[in-house]
Amino acid sequence: MDCNQFLEEQTRELRRTVGDHIAINALSGGVDSSVVTALGHRALGNQLKTVFVDNALMRDGEPEYVVQTFAALGIPVDLIDAREEFLSALEGLTDPEAKRRAITDTFYQTVFGRIVRESGAKFLLHGTILTDIEETVAGIKRQHNILSQLGIDPEQAYGYQVLEPLKTLRKDGVRELAAYLDLPADLAQRIPFPGPALATRIVGEVTADRLATVRAATMIVEEELAATGAFQYLAVLLNDCATGIRNGKREFGQIIVVRCIESTDARKATVTELGWDKLHTLSQRITSLPGVNRCLYDLTPKPPATVEYI
Ligand code: XMP
Repeated sequence: MDCNQFLEEQTRELRRTVGDHIAINALSGGVDSSVVTALGHRALGNQLKTVFVDNALMRDGEPEYVVQTFAALGIPVDLIDAREEFLSALEGLTDPEAKRRAITDTFYQTVFGRIVRESGAKFLLHGTILTDIEETVAGIKRQHNILSQLGIDPEQAYGYQVLEPLKTLRKDGVRELAAYLDLPADLAQRIPFPGPALATRIVGEVTADRLATVRAATMIVEEELAATGAFQYLAVLLNDCATGIRNGKREFGQIIVVRCIESTDARKATVTELGWDKLHTLSQRITSLPGVNRCLYDLTPKPPATVEYI
């Protein structure tokens, strides 16, 4: 890809579309939204307001990491605490698509609606990529970030127009652009992380307690598997429990699945052949988390499985 030409075209297009208005974007810390943020600030300067919404579904330390990383690049990011709103929207929901819908609506309607009204922004920049569009159109999954492809008019529904400058690129193209834009290597090379965050890794109800469990397991998996160079690795909390023994007593405990995959663009994936020692360490560390007494390794490629569990 010719990054320079791509940036020139997108810059021209953004300036032409946004004109004298204010645009806004939500940074999640993933490579897609990070590239949109850097590209948007390059094109629009302080006409672009960037926010980071803490939806309670993030990895440990994520909001602070993202805000500090962009501050170091000279890009100010407002941290919005919306944890309570997301948790109450998710309360009692167990159906995967209902959970995704609740997150989408809380994000765009409740939280973003408010931020946009306060900011006066007419445009929302979003890091949608081609794979998101294809999978949503194919009906595989309702992606968090697709609206118009689903026949939802964001201007009518939420009061603003969505701009998607990366919608012709796949993940590898976005990574190329990240390097070209001088984003820090650890940010540009981060493994993919979905918009609905840890909610895609909790089967069943998303509660603060269950989030704490999957968040702690995520930290262990990310620490243990970073050196594998795999495309993506994650921890999932199942809805079932299983009998086990802790301190000589019967315990009906929680089950964590570890998933680690090889892929180039997440459309297809194979399972990483982890060594036994690594699997053993993962199992030991994960089952030392309170209430977790089983750790499983997922052997399923995509297809037939998807990467995430909801
Ligand atoms: P699936 O689970 O569909 O995931 O096989 C394919 C890739 O997309 C990520 N993913 C998402 N990313 N919003 C995103 O921004 C989403 O709603 C979403 N769902 C899945 C997933 O982590 C994998 O890399």
